[in-house]
Amino acid sequence: MPMRRMSAALALPALVLLAGCQAISAPPAVTADQALLARGEYLVRIAGCNDCHTPNFPERAGDVPRREWLVGVPLGFVGPWGTTYAANLRLKLASMDEATWMQYSARLRTRPPMPDFNLRAMDAHDRRAIYRFIRALGPAGQAAPAYLPPGRMPPPPYLQLVLPPASPAAP
Ligand code: HEC
Repeated sequence: MPMRRMSAALALPALVLLAGCQAISAPPAVTADQALLARGEYLVRIAGCNDCHTPNFPERAGDVPRREWLVGVPLGFVGPWGTTYAANLRLKLASMDEATWMQYSARLRTRPPMPDFNLRAMDAHDRRAIYRFIRALGPAGQAAPAYLPPGRMPPPPYLQLVLPPASPAAP
């Protein structure tokens, strides 16, 4: 057999072998990414992010397509802190890279009723999963209305929390 033909004959099985290896080694990387996305979706649902940040999520008993998730809600939360609105997280995270989110979410301090303490209590893997999932949803919607300081009433709709007068300082 001439040399050139022989090397071609040898190369073919080698190529098949190589393709086979790739087919075996490719899926785990994709699976790890998909697992992170699935974890993020699960956390967003069960940690209640949708309850406040997705329009009509409680009213529709959670039966809201993902494309409508986390676009912020123009419902004011009125209390001694002023008036807050659940932010549009799709726009917020679109403007932040992953490293910035990891630092930001570990130290986030907001006004009520955002449970910032729950986000801070999540481990890094979970905070990363939330980021990946929200980024995968992509930017959508408008910014929520701006915060109003105490003493200024917002236009409806709003929820108002009326608290008892401050209790005397503990002895
Ligand atoms: C009980 C309602 C509620 C729940 C539950 C909630 N949020 Fe919020 N969130 C808010 C409100 C209201 C604000 C605005 C707070 C402010 O203006 O200080 C906010 C603010 C934020 C901010 C800051 C946005 C900005 O632009 O400053 C982030 C990030 C955030 N929420 C993420 C989450 C995530 C992630 C979850 C789920 C783990 C979640 N929130 C659950 C109501 C909620």
